[in-house]
Amino acid sequence: MKNNLAQPGRAFAAVAAALASLAAPASAQVDPVRMIDSFERAGGKFDGYRRSGAKGVCAAGEFVGSAEARALSTASAFSGKPVPVLVRFSVGGGNPKAPDNAKSQRNMALQFDLPGESWLMGNISAPVFGAATPEQMLARLEAIAPDPETKKPNPEKVKAFNDANPETLLQGKYFASQPVPASFAKLNYWGVHAFGFVDAAGRKQFGKWIFEPVGGTQGLSDEEAKAKGPDFLADDLRQRVAAGNVAFDFNLQLAQPGDKLDSAVTPLPDDRKKVTLGRLTIKSVAADATGPCVTINFNPMVLPKGVEPSADPMLAARAAPYAVSQGRRLSEGAKQ
Ligand code: HEM
Repeated sequence: MKNNLAQPGRAFAAVAAALASLAAPASAQVDPVRMIDSFERAGGKFDGYRRSGAKGVCAAGEFVGSAEARALSTASAFSGKPVPVLVRFSVGGGNPKAPDNAKSQRNMALQFDLPGESWLMGNISAPVFGAATPEQMLARLEAIAPDPETKKPNPEKVKAFNDANPETLLQGKYFASQPVPASFAKLNYWGVHAFGFVDAAGRKQFGKWIFEPVGGTQGLSDEEAKAKGPDFLADDLRQRVAAGNVAFDFNLQLAQPGDKLDSAVTPLPDDRKKVTLGRLTIKSVAADATGPCVTINFNPMVLPKGVEPSADPMLAARAAPYAVSQGRRLSEGAKQ
């Protein structure tokens, strides 16, 4: 797909970084260029691809909000009328050849196209992220980057980082405890951050969301995963969507006073009440790597009126590096 943004990289990144620094709390002041350089050093550099979630497929769907959602928030996404949504499913990491049959992260990123506004989000297949602050994320990337001489991560550096930052290991433990996902369509996707939902009277209810597949999740045995090979997820999704049965419930766990709202490595307690904000139905999937997702960076700070960010430092810290990655891939000749 062609785009008319010939050299958007630097200017775009600079504007986004300036905006993010206005909104970001003091702890979110990691240089976004250094952050993306570190992604490239740790995971490899693949021109034209997203520096995270590189291997993916663009889809389109429709969201219908519920009465429970309308009681919690004035957001136009919850009007009850069908809202068009652009969806990108992807495999975690910066490698566009990442295997589909590994116990690793899958993503579901969304753009709700609302009257006069958008809602962007990137959700992951784990209830927690792998770092609590942007500084910890950067330190982690720097610890796992291959040593220039051995071309491998230095095990002592990795161990020292892990010992000092045990909460960064929670996500890997979660993936190890789960089967290889059978499909992009049969997996839970968590928002991981808290967001505030504001009603017509101005009351704000914080919560963390999960997209749960209608009909439940589905995993593969180790033998099945091996037999599927490294490239089955996009075609599997096309087949399931053509058969008309891919949908997710958008569920919100409601926080209670005292719950931790500023940490992407701390889920809300399991017993918190869950309400269904509506249903997302996937209607079509791009036939190949093209599609309108290419020019979108799913910056989760782009929110509709009626939904507000929490003070989680990882949330505001995503905006600027996403713009840097987007600028680089578009000016390199975007691949998907
Ligand atoms: C400071 C922390 C983070 C950094 C530096 C970072 C970096 C990135 C980058 C560079 C991209 C690709 C952007 C593009 O080229 O369009 C991306 C995509 C993504 N990130 Fe993050 N990320 C961070 C935190 C998180 C967290 C906490 C989550 C958890 C929900 C997350 C979920 C995603 C998802 C789902 C995508 C894929 C979106 C797509 O399909 O394009 N990220 N991230």
